Amino acid sequence: MTNGVSVGAKPGSYKTIVYVICSVAALGGLLFGLDQGFIANSLETIEQHYHFGVHGGESYSAILATGGIVGALLSGLFARFLGRKKSLLFAGFIFTAASAVSALLPPLPVLSACRFVLGFGVGVASFVVPLYLAETAPASIRGSMGTLFQLMITIGIFLIAVTNVFIARTFPNPTASLPLMFLTITLFAALMFIGGFILPESPRWLMLKGRKEQAVTVLRRTLNTEQEINLEIEEIERALHGPQGAGISIVTRGYFFKVLLVGVLLQMFQQLVGINMMIYYSPTIFGYAGMKGLLAAMTVPTVNMLFTFPAIHLVEKWGRKKLLYVGAVAMLITMIAAGVAFQSIGATTDPTMISGTAKNVLLASAVLYIFGFAVSWGPVAWIVCSEIFPLEGREVGMTITTMVNWTFAGLVMANALSFMQAHGNASIFFVFAAFCVFAIIFVALFVPETKGITLEEMEFNLKNGVRLRNLGDRSSALTGGPRPAPSARH
Ligand code: BGC
Repeated sequence: MTNGVSVGAKPGSYKTIVYVICSVAALGGLLFGLDQGFIANSLETIEQHYHFGVHGGESYSAILATGGIVGALLSGLFARFLGRKKSLLFAGFIFTAASAVSALLPPLPVLSACRFVLGFGVGVASFVVPLYLAETAPASIRGSMGTLFQLMITIGIFLIAVTNVFIARTFPNPTASLPLMFLTITLFAALMFIGGFILPESPRWLMLKGRKEQAVTVLRRTLNTEQEINLEIEEIERALHGPQGAGISIVTRGYFFKVLLVGVLLQMFQQLVGINMMIYYSPTIFGYAGMKGLLAAMTVPTVNMLFTFPAIHLVEKWGRKKLLYVGAVAMLITMIAAGVAFQSIGATTDPTMISGTAKNVLLASAVLYIFGFAVSWGPVAWIVCSEIFPLEGREVGMTITTMVNWTFAGLVMANALSFMQAHGNASIFFVFAAFCVFAIIFVALFVPETKGITLEEMEFNLKNGVRLRNLGDRSSALTGGPRPAPSARH
């Protein structure tokens, strides 16, 4: 032992605190999912208590996204000035408070304000959790953390579907069931809040604030050997002497603007292919086709979670672009199929009047559609956005692209059902199918393959005017002038 630190610990063995760090931070992803998936199987119960109709339901659902936009906008400031740990504690606290107040079934404006606050917490957590993990977890597990976050979101969506269905069936009275549904969120939020106290602060943030001794103390808790600690300190110091986080003015630099556009469009399409219509309203939509019960309630969240697992492996094996194509084509075909099924169903919701074929096509389409999203656009949009920005503009780039994601998510949540009411149930599926086509064209023309290239090589390509879709080519990076200094990978 040296300074209380074991020398020569087995590679790949981590201290308990590392698991605590990953679990508490993963709870941030879980809460994202719990809030995102909450609506699907609680909408009917909320409607029974609050009687807000289709438009009211959409507004209540979508206000989460408005909170998410504001949270994402301010999260960079929180992370920088409060520190990563306090920002996580803050997110845990507001998740706990807002869901606990909702459980009291307050008047609708207060309930909506609580959902806004929950969205705010999700916005902060979706920025700070990956940042904290990237900065604090040992390097060898940093890569898998990005996918872990998405996996936790889908587990959260699944978990809340199970608990909400169970609660609604066990307690038919909304004044009993609704508080329990909200308290499920409170339970996990409180775990994140309390667990947050034992988290160490991010060593990178401590170094940024000139508190090297404290940073070393934290690294002693997380790393095994003095050698690892010294290497980490050197890496952080090198990164701190490299280009620093630029302000918003960086968007006016040509090279940054180009890559920002890729991130913005990627996040826009991630939402405009219609995922949150399915996540939020699939039980309602299945209901329009005369399907009720467990199948309608559980199909989407279950498939969504299960097919995020293969994505973890495929994203490195096949690469990002191939997955984006496969996903978009699957979603295109199934959106058209679902639209055609709804056309044959027409406006009737009487189950006895609806053909078995139409129902089966709809169900199969939903399964394949969710498969298409979960295995590709779900994780890949976030991964690519964390990879394409040069270090000095990564915070600005990720803040803007996250806000774009929430903006379009909100648009879909706020309009999907009323669009179906106004233009016929089939219409919206064709709209989303059209966006799948645009998404495919966009991927082909502008998205770089970021698999297997270091962030520094890509940055070098970007600043040397390489075309957007070739940014990930190693051959371009290897030719030509001086290479940028390596930087920390977020
Ligand atoms: C999206 C969310 C969506 C979730 C579904 C995420 O990648 O950003 O809007 O609800 O995937 O799993």
